[in-house]
Amino acid sequence: MNDRGLILGGLLLFVGLITLPVWYNVAAGTPSRPPELKLPAQGKDPFGTAEYMRASHMSLLVAWRDEVVRGGERTVVGRDGKTYAKSLTRTCMDCHSSRAEFCDRCHGYTSARVSCWDCHADRRLAEGSAR
Ligand code: HEC
Ligand code: HEC
Ligand code: HEC
Repeated sequence: MNDRGLILGGLLLFVGLITLPVWYNVAAGTPSRPPELKLPAQGKDPFGTAEYMRASHMSLLVAWRDEVVRGGERTVVGRDGKTYAKSLTRTCMDCHSSRAEFCDRCHGYTSARVSCWDCHADRRLAEGSAR
Protein backbone atom coordinates (compact mmCIF):
# COMPACT_ATOMS: atom_id res chain seq x y z
CA MET A 1 0.00 0.00 0.00
CA ASN A 2 2.39 2.72 -1.07
CA ASP A 3 0.65 5.26 -3.27
CA ARG A 4 2.93 8.10 -2.28
CA GLY A 5 4.91 8.09 -5.50
CA LEU A 6 1.76 8.01 -7.54
CA ILE A 7 0.13 10.84 -5.59
CA LEU A 8 3.24 12.98 -5.77
CA GLY A 9 3.57 12.32 -9.50
CA GLY A 10 -0.06 13.23 -10.01
CA LEU A 11 0.34 16.42 -8.05
CA LEU A 12 3.40 17.45 -10.01
CA LEU A 13 1.63 16.76 -13.28
CA PHE A 14 -1.36 18.80 -12.10
CA VAL A 15 0.76 21.81 -11.07
CA GLY A 16 2.68 21.55 -14.34
CA LEU A 17 -0.52 21.57 -16.35
CA ILE A 18 -2.27 24.44 -14.62
CA THR A 19 0.84 26.61 -14.89
CA LEU A 20 1.32 25.70 -18.55
CA PRO A 21 0.47 29.21 -19.82
CA VAL A 22 3.24 30.60 -17.59
CA TRP A 23 5.77 28.07 -18.88
CA TYR A 24 4.65 28.74 -22.39
CA ASN A 25 5.33 32.46 -21.97
CA VAL A 26 8.68 31.80 -20.31
CA ALA A 27 9.68 29.52 -23.16
CA ALA A 28 8.45 31.96 -25.81
CA GLY A 29 10.22 34.84 -24.06
CA THR A 30 7.02 36.89 -23.89
CA PRO A 31 6.05 37.42 -20.27
CA SER A 32 2.70 39.19 -20.08
CA ARG A 33 3.25 42.92 -19.77
CA PRO A 34 0.89 45.84 -19.38
CA PRO A 35 0.24 47.72 -22.62
CA GLU A 36 2.54 50.58 -23.58
CA LEU A 37 0.39 53.67 -23.48
CA LYS A 38 1.21 56.80 -25.41
CA LEU A 39 0.90 59.61 -22.86
CA PRO A 40 1.00 63.34 -23.58
CA ALA A 41 4.63 64.51 -23.64
CA GLN A 42 4.19 66.81 -20.67
CA GLY A 43 1.83 68.14 -18.04
CA LYS A 44 -0.66 66.37 -15.87
CA ASP A 45 -4.21 65.24 -16.28
CA PRO A 46 -6.39 68.18 -15.20
CA PHE A 47 -9.09 65.90 -13.75
CA GLY A 48 -7.11 63.72 -11.35
CA THR A 49 -3.94 61.76 -10.67
CA ALA A 50 -2.98 58.95 -13.03
CA GLU A 51 -4.25 56.40 -10.46
CA TYR A 52 -7.54 58.21 -10.15
CA MET A 53 -7.95 58.50 -13.91
CA ARG A 54 -7.11 54.83 -14.46
CA ALA A 55 -9.71 53.77 -11.95
CA SER A 56 -12.42 56.37 -12.50
CA HIS A 57 -12.29 57.89 -16.00
CA MET A 58 -15.39 55.93 -16.98
CA SER A 59 -17.56 57.31 -14.20
CA LEU A 60 -16.19 60.79 -14.81
CA LEU A 61 -17.17 60.64 -18.49
CA VAL A 62 -20.60 59.23 -17.80
CA ALA A 63 -21.20 61.93 -15.17
CA TRP A 64 -20.15 64.59 -17.69
CA ARG A 65 -22.53 63.20 -20.27
CA ASP A 66 -25.44 63.36 -17.85
CA GLU A 67 -24.52 66.84 -16.66
CA VAL A 68 -24.34 68.14 -20.24
CA VAL A 69 -27.29 66.34 -21.73
CA ARG A 70 -29.67 66.54 -18.78
CA GLY A 71 -28.38 69.57 -16.85
CA GLY A 72 -27.00 71.77 -19.63
CA GLU A 73 -23.79 72.24 -17.62
CA ARG A 74 -21.16 72.26 -20.33
CA THR A 75 -17.95 73.29 -18.58
CA VAL A 76 -15.73 72.18 -15.74
CA VAL A 77 -12.73 73.79 -14.04
CA GLY A 78 -9.71 71.47 -13.91
CA ARG A 79 -7.08 71.14 -11.18
CA ASP A 80 -4.94 73.52 -13.24
CA GLY A 81 -7.56 76.25 -12.89
CA LYS A 82 -8.44 76.17 -16.59
CA THR A 83 -11.96 75.80 -17.89
CA TYR A 84 -12.66 72.76 -20.07
CA ALA A 85 -15.67 71.62 -22.06
CA LYS A 86 -17.22 68.46 -20.59
CA SER A 87 -16.56 66.67 -23.83
CA LEU A 88 -15.15 63.29 -24.74
CA THR A 89 -13.80 64.25 -28.13
CA ARG A 90 -13.04 67.91 -27.62
CA THR A 91 -11.39 67.59 -24.20
CA CYS A 92 -10.01 64.09 -23.52
CA MET A 93 -8.93 63.56 -27.12
CA ASP A 94 -7.28 67.00 -27.34
CA CYS A 95 -4.56 65.71 -25.02
CA HIS A 96 -4.85 61.96 -25.59
CA SER A 97 -4.77 62.49 -29.31
CA SER A 98 -4.14 58.90 -30.32
CA ARG A 99 -7.16 56.83 -29.51
CA ALA A 100 -5.43 53.74 -30.95
CA GLU A 101 -2.29 54.06 -28.85
CA PHE A 102 -4.01 55.08 -25.64
CA CYS A 103 -7.70 54.32 -25.10
CA ASP A 104 -7.98 51.35 -27.47
CA ARG A 105 -4.71 49.82 -26.39
CA CYS A 106 -5.78 49.65 -22.77
CA HIS A 107 -9.37 48.65 -23.54
CA GLY A 108 -8.05 45.85 -25.75
CA TYR A 109 -5.70 44.64 -23.05
CA THR A 110 -8.40 44.70 -20.36
CA SER A 111 -11.19 43.47 -22.70
CA ALA A 112 -13.26 46.54 -21.85
CA ARG A 113 -16.14 47.23 -24.22
CA VAL A 114 -16.57 50.91 -24.97
CA SER A 115 -19.42 51.78 -27.28
CA CYS A 116 -19.10 55.57 -27.17
CA TRP A 117 -17.32 55.65 -30.53
CA ASP A 118 -20.44 54.35 -32.27
CA CYS A 119 -21.72 57.93 -32.08
CA HIS A 120 -18.82 60.12 -30.96
CA ALA A 121 -16.42 60.53 -33.86
CA ASP A 122 -12.71 60.14 -33.38
CA ARG A 123 -11.60 63.74 -33.61
CA ARG A 124 -8.68 62.92 -35.87
CA LEU A 125 -10.96 61.32 -38.40
CA ALA A 126 -13.68 63.92 -38.30
CA GLU A 127 -12.01 67.22 -37.47
CA GLY A 128 -14.59 69.96 -37.30
CA SER A 129 -17.66 67.80 -37.04
CA ALA A 130 -16.29 65.92 -34.05
CA ARG A 131 -18.22 65.84 -30.84
C1 HEC B 1 -26.37 56.56 -29.45
C2 HEC B 1 -25.36 57.57 -29.65
C3 HEC B 1 -24.43 57.87 -28.48
C4 HEC B 1 -23.65 56.99 -27.78
C5 HEC B 1 -23.50 55.49 -27.97
C6 HEC B 1 -22.93 57.78 -26.79
N1 HEC B 1 -23.26 59.09 -26.93
FE1 HEC B 1 -22.55 60.64 -25.82
N2 HEC B 1 -23.77 61.93 -26.77
C7 HEC B 1 -24.62 61.61 -27.81
C8 HEC B 1 -25.36 62.82 -28.19
C9 HEC B 1 -26.39 62.89 -29.31
C10 HEC B 1 -24.93 63.85 -27.32
C11 HEC B 1 -25.42 65.29 -27.28
C12 HEC B 1 -24.45 66.18 -27.93
C13 HEC B 1 -24.60 67.59 -27.42
O1 HEC B 1 -25.71 68.03 -27.13
O2 HEC B 1 -23.56 68.24 -27.28
C14 HEC B 1 -23.92 63.26 -26.46
C15 HEC B 1 -23.21 63.97 -25.52
C16 HEC B 1 -22.19 63.47 -24.74
C17 HEC B 1 -21.31 64.26 -23.88
C18 HEC B 1 -21.33 65.75 -23.68
C19 HEC B 1 -21.03 66.55 -24.96
C20 HEC B 1 -19.73 66.27 -25.67
O3 HEC B 1 -19.36 67.05 -26.57
O4 HEC B 1 -19.03 65.28 -25.41
C21 HEC B 1 -20.45 63.39 -23.30
C22 HEC B 1 -19.32 63.73 -22.29
C23 HEC B 1 -20.78 62.08 -23.79
N3 HEC B 1 -21.83 62.16 -24.65
C24 HEC B 1 -20.10 60.96 -23.42
C25 HEC B 1 -20.40 59.68 -23.88
C26 HEC B 1 -19.75 58.49 -23.40
C27 HEC B 1 -18.68 58.47 -22.33
C28 HEC B 1 -20.28 57.44 -24.09
C29 HEC B 1 -19.95 55.98 -23.93
C30 HEC B 1 -20.12 55.42 -22.59
C31 HEC B 1 -21.29 57.99 -24.99
N4 HEC B 1 -21.34 59.34 -24.83
C32 HEC B 1 -22.04 57.26 -25.88
C33 HEC B 1 -24.75 60.38 -28.39
C34 HEC B 1 -24.18 59.21 -27.95
C1 HEC C 1 -4.74 68.80 -20.58
C2 HEC C 1 -4.42 67.45 -21.04
C3 HEC C 1 -5.30 66.28 -20.60
C4 HEC C 1 -6.69 66.18 -20.68
C5 HEC C 1 -7.68 67.22 -21.16
C6 HEC C 1 -7.01 64.82 -20.22
N1 HEC C 1 -5.87 64.16 -19.86
FE1 HEC C 1 -5.76 62.24 -19.20
N2 HEC C 1 -3.77 62.48 -18.82
C7 HEC C 1 -3.01 63.57 -19.19
C8 HEC C 1 -1.62 63.36 -18.79
C9 HEC C 1 -0.46 64.32 -19.02
C10 HEC C 1 -1.59 62.09 -18.15
C11 HEC C 1 -0.34 61.40 -17.56
C12 HEC C 1 -0.46 61.08 -16.13
C13 HEC C 1 -0.42 62.23 -15.17
O1 HEC C 1 -1.40 62.98 -15.06
O2 HEC C 1 0.60 62.38 -14.50
C14 HEC C 1 -2.96 61.57 -18.19
C15 HEC C 1 -3.36 60.34 -17.66
C16 HEC C 1 -4.58 59.71 -17.93
C17 HEC C 1 -4.93 58.35 -17.60
C18 HEC C 1 -4.04 57.34 -16.86
C19 HEC C 1 -3.08 56.71 -17.84
C20 HEC C 1 -2.15 55.74 -17.18
O3 HEC C 1 -2.48 54.55 -17.11
O4 HEC C 1 -1.08 56.16 -16.72
C21 HEC C 1 -6.20 58.12 -18.08
C22 HEC C 1 -6.99 56.82 -18.02
C23 HEC C 1 -6.65 59.36 -18.68
N3 HEC C 1 -5.64 60.31 -18.57
C24 HEC C 1 -7.90 59.54 -19.28
C25 HEC C 1 -8.42 60.78 -19.62
C26 HEC C 1 -9.81 61.02 -19.98
C27 HEC C 1 -10.89 59.96 -20.11
C28 HEC C 1 -9.93 62.37 -20.18
C29 HEC C 1 -11.20 63.15 -20.45
C30 HEC C 1 -12.21 63.02 -19.40
C31 HEC C 1 -8.61 62.96 -19.99
N4 HEC C 1 -7.73 61.96 -19.64
C32 HEC C 1 -8.30 64.30 -20.16
C33 HEC C 1 -3.47 64.70 -19.83
C34 HEC C 1 -4.80 65.01 -20.08
C1 HEC D 1 -5.15 52.25 -18.11
C2 HEC D 1 -6.16 51.60 -18.92
C3 HEC D 1 -7.19 52.46 -19.64
C4 HEC D 1 -6.99 53.58 -20.42
C5 HEC D 1 -5.67 54.23 -20.76
C6 HEC D 1 -8.30 54.01 -20.87
N1 HEC D 1 -9.27 53.18 -20.35
FE1 HEC D 1 -11.27 53.44 -20.53
N2 HEC D 1 -11.60 51.76 -19.44
C7 HEC D 1 -10.63 50.94 -18.91
C8 HEC D 1 -11.25 49.79 -18.26
C9 HEC D 1 -10.52 48.66 -17.55
C10 HEC D 1 -12.64 49.95 -18.44
C11 HEC D 1 -13.77 48.98 -18.00
C12 HEC D 1 -14.18 49.27 -16.60
C13 HEC D 1 -15.35 48.39 -16.18
O1 HEC D 1 -15.84 47.60 -16.98
O2 HEC D 1 -15.74 48.54 -15.03
C14 HEC D 1 -12.83 51.20 -19.16
C15 HEC D 1 -14.07 51.72 -19.47
C16 HEC D 1 -14.24 52.93 -20.12
C17 HEC D 1 -15.54 53.55 -20.33
C18 HEC D 1 -16.88 53.01 -19.85
C19 HEC D 1 -17.60 52.31 -20.98
C20 HEC D 1 -19.02 51.94 -20.63
O3 HEC D 1 -19.79 51.72 -21.58
O4 HEC D 1 -19.35 51.87 -19.45
C21 HEC D 1 -15.32 54.69 -21.03
C22 HEC D 1 -16.36 55.70 -21.48
C23 HEC D 1 -13.89 54.79 -21.28
N3 HEC D 1 -13.26 53.70 -20.70
C24 HEC D 1 -13.30 55.80 -21.99
C25 HEC D 1 -11.93 55.91 -22.21
C26 HEC D 1 -11.31 56.91 -23.07
C27 HEC D 1 -12.05 57.96 -23.86
C28 HEC D 1 -9.97 56.70 -22.99
C29 HEC D 1 -8.86 57.46 -23.70
C30 HEC D 1 -8.87 58.93 -23.54
C31 HEC D 1 -9.74 55.59 -22.07
N4 HEC D 1 -10.96 55.13 -21.65
C32 HEC D 1 -8.51 55.11 -21.70
C33 HEC D 1 -9.27 51.16 -18.95
C34 HEC D 1 -8.64 52.21 -19.62
